[in-house]
Amino acid sequence: MLVTRVERIETVAAAADGRLRPCVFDLEATVEGPVDPASGMVVNLAEMKGVLRREITAGLAGEVLDGRDGRAAAPTPERLARLVWDRLHGEVSGRRLRRIRLIGRPSPTVEHYGESEMDVTRIYEFSASHRLHSPHLADEENERLFGKCNNPAGHGHNYVLEVTVRGEPGADGEVLPAAALDRIVADRVVDRWDHRNLNVDVPEFRDVNPTAEEIARTAWNRLRADVESVRDGVRLRRVKLRETERNHVEYEGEEAQ
Ligand code: NI
Repeated sequence: MLVTRVERIETVAAAADGRLRPCVFDLEATVEGPVDPASGMVVNLAEMKGVLRREITAGLAGEVLDGRDGRAAAPTPERLARLVWDRLHGEVSGRRLRRIRLIGRPSPTVEHYGESEMDVTRIYEFSASHRLHSPHLADEENERLFGKCNNPAGHGHNYVLEVTVRGEPGADGEVLPAAALDRIVADRVVDRWDHRNLNVDVPEFRDVNPTAEEIARTAWNRLRADVESVRDGVRLRRVKLRETERNHVEYEGEEAQ
């Protein structure tokens, strides 16, 4: 059974040029263990809260992360995740830590499992119109399946694309330089799809119905080679597409089918 406690880290980071910037993350600490038959709990959450506040949030509150006191320079979210893991010694209140998740607003999110590799997710947005219509189905069948989404003139969405990469942080403290990932996603996907009609303007969807599933898979295919060529050992881990607040799809490549 997994149990998660959420705390907020509010600190200050010194950039290479010496300028200070606020550094705010939600810290999710997840522990794993059996449910105690007497208490019905895996871990006492009040105790977990106490440990996290004592060891992490109080210790880092307002502290300038600048490379002194043995801390790594360039306090990237990846380094902060490792620092949190190390301060907790891989456990909280006697339970084994399963995962540390640092959620920056709006991004990145770093997921650390105590291994050399970690997952980093950055979030992108684009607005596009589409019409759900399969060339492989009769018009009546399309209308039955897709209803108002089959409207010939189309309709729009504000899409949210979450791109997750996995790898070992490099000498710069990052799995992949944020600017490099941002540029790839802009060049390969967002700049091509934003404010476009997917069915008409995007070659991949001329013969493919632009459902959320197909959009996510197409984004994966467009991103993978470029993402994985930036740095040795970095892999595209997951592409998640939020079409609406209520409809999300995730794609992790063919092997996850
Ligand atoms: Ni739609």
